[in-house]
Amino acid sequence: MYPFSIDVFAARNCWYVASFSRDVTRTPMERWLLDEPVVLYRKENGEPIALEGRCAHRHFPLGEGKLVGDNLQCPYHGFTYAPDGQNVRIPSQDRPSAKCRIKSYPVVEKWRWIWIWMGDPALADPALIPDHGDIGLDDPKLVTDEVLHEELDARYQLIHDNLMDLTHVAFLHQNTLGGGSEASASAKVTETEGENWMEGERIIQNIPTTPHFAGYLGYDGLCDRIIGQRYYLPALHFGWDKYAYPAGHAEAGKIFGQLLVYHGITPARRNSAHYFFATARDFGQEAQEEMRAATSAVIREDVWGLSHVERMLRACNDEMPPEYSARSDTQQLMARRKLEKLIASEMKMAAE
Ligand code: FES
Ligand SMILES: [Fe+2]
Repeated sequence: MYPFSIDVFAARNCWYVASFSRDVTRTPMERWLLDEPVVLYRKENGEPIALEGRCAHRHFPLGEGKLVGDNLQCPYHGFTYAPDGQNVRIPSQDRPSAKCRIKSYPVVEKWRWIWIWMGDPALADPALIPDHGDIGLDDPKLVTDEVLHEELDARYQLIHDNLMDLTHVAFLHQNTLGGGSEASASAKVTETEGENWMEGERIIQNIPTTPHFAGYLGYDGLCDRIIGQRYYLPALHFGWDKYAYPAGHAEAGKIFGQLLVYHGITPARRNSAHYFFATARDFGQEAQEEMRAATSAVIREDVWGLSHVERMLRACNDEMPPEYSARSDTQQLMARRKLEKLIASEMKMAAE
């Protein structure tokens, strides 16, 4: 299915963001992840739990269920499941059935995300979650914020496409992040990659400080802007937007503000996706609400754009006319192929 050239959906043996911590409580919550219903809740000691969200008896959605201690009771006929998915009670009989169980998914709570492993539980190694120290989430000098969670009416691959081609900043975000300048679209990109990540960075010199943030940065003159993005395949993008004084300024080269951004992308259904967006920054620290509004306005522009692309794709029933790719699409195309290869190799392994 587009944009993949073969019929694959999503990688499973990897960590995805399932939720922000604040949304997982003692009230069970249904969430579709990788086209599966999942129910999330917390045990009495606060530990997060993720179980299959459909009762093994007659398919009732367990997100409607009730917690009995640490166990989850289906509201239809009262079947009750332990946090490991094992049935522990069938009210109409004396004993529960060992054969009755639902899936239980490994979860890890790190920073203020709940990470979930939807694939083979035996392979769920928490060390595979991108190191939060490397991406600034442990930095005490930065203020962090869980800005928004949106479920997009667009397939998840479109969000990766969007984040792998930042030439869109100058146009889709011209009223916010782009600051009305087209310079970011033509800036030279330095591309690097590692085993499970790929990165692109552009430096744009002598451009106006985007009015969208100038008030919080305390500077509205010309600046040099360093914009980069690292994609940790397959589920997290880490970006940076750094502002430095330009040549000719008394403090030329000094960075006077940085905004780090985190995009957790998790397939929901085949044509929809969860977008978990968070930030860390060293400016506007006292203006959390205003900065949340300013940064979420940027993501809503992406949400608007991608839902329109999805609409066009559906209208074609995936019989897509050929698409033209520009030189700036090289990394995006590489990311598509890498992801496709990862999924195909998982499927091959599962079939063996
Ligand atoms: S459907 Fe859940 S107990 Fe019957
Ligand atoms: Fe964007």
